Amino acid sequence: MTELAVETSGLVKVFGENRAVDGLDLRVPAGTVYGVLGPNGAGKTTAVRMLATLLRPDGGEARVFGRDVVKDADEVRRRVSLTGQYASVDEDLTGMENLILLARLQGYKKPAARDRGAQLLEAFGLTDAADRQVKNYSGGMRRRIDIAASILNTPDLLFLDEPTTGLDPRSRNQVWDIVRIVVAQGTTVLLTTQYLDEADRLASRIAVIDHGRLIAEGTPGQLKASIGAGSVHVRLRDAAQREQAQRVLSRELNAPVHLEADPVALTARIAEAGDDQAAAERAARALAELAADGITVDDFALGQPSLDEVFLALTDRPATIEENAA
Ligand SMILES: Nc1ncnc2c1ncn2[C@@H]1O[C@H](COP(=O)(O)OP(=O)(O)OP(=O)(O)O)[C@@H](O)[C@H]1O
Ligand SMILES: [Mg+2]
Repeated sequence: MTELAVETSGLVKVFGENRAVDGLDLRVPAGTVYGVLGPNGAGKTTAVRMLATLLRPDGGEARVFGRDVVKDADEVRRRVSLTGQYASVDEDLTGMENLILLARLQGYKKPAARDRGAQLLEAFGLTDAADRQVKNYSGGMRRRIDIAASILNTPDLLFLDEPTTGLDPRSRNQVWDIVRIVVAQGTTVLLTTQYLDEADRLASRIAVIDHGRLIAEGTPGQLKASIGAGSVHVRLRDAAQREQAQRVLSRELNAPVHLEADPVALTARIAEAGDDQAAAERAARALAELAADGITVDDFALGQPSLDEVFLALTDRPATIEENAA
């Protein structure tokens, strides 16, 4: 049996009337990246804070490497590290000064602290910025120094709470590379995110949570497969033909057709769950019908459902909707 880095059962946290975490069951295998995916207010940070012993559960149980987060909090604390949604390093210090300070606080002697700092700055591509104050770092550099600070003493379990929120694509890629470095060194990573592609790329398993509850769990492939055979993405030449295209597609695909924010784009899920061949044939017929109706199609693609579509299918609303944010 694989070792579990995290195991919760019926975990609950209540703020007043609000059940922020509402009976959450999670099993995170050790040595992997595990993604916890959910929209604003889903309860991700609250769950992570309980697992990191920063917040006391109101119900249920949580174990980290077999240790209870309440009864064995000290032992849990020795094995975990948390990089918060809101950063923790000192803005007025340089990158190197921050790492040395934190290493010293964790018991490193001065030369060893400097060595460890230099090693992490190098690994995270921050050597050139070592002697600049953190307040002058870009958002991406800032996130990298935060993660560096949280793995000074290589933790067994690292919580990364929305490590790439607000970053540009290049910086997100750099953070993803760092996550891969960290997990390759044997650390289990529990990553929360609102980005479906991020969980898809990094995580071997994903828990989708909504309103403090688990609504789906599995590998990215399983999650997608549970939703349907695939989805059709269409881009038209002329936005004026979109309603007509929507009628044709919903008739031919026998599925609801979603209008994208892009005024020439439509998406539909194909109903034949699990049958790729039938899905492809149906998609081909739909494309022929669009042409027969005189609708000009610039782009037509049949793909696996994206995790965005998975979320829509599971919750009847897109993952990107901002709701009851704190
Ligand atoms: N300290 C607190 N006091 C009162 N309510 C809180 C507190 N912390 C969180 N909440 C509420 O609990 C719910 C879950 O919040 P949480 O921060 O865990 O969500 P999240 O999934 O991390 O969201 P986001 O993606 O916006 O970070 C929200 O409704 C939030 O307003
Ligand atoms: Mg949060």
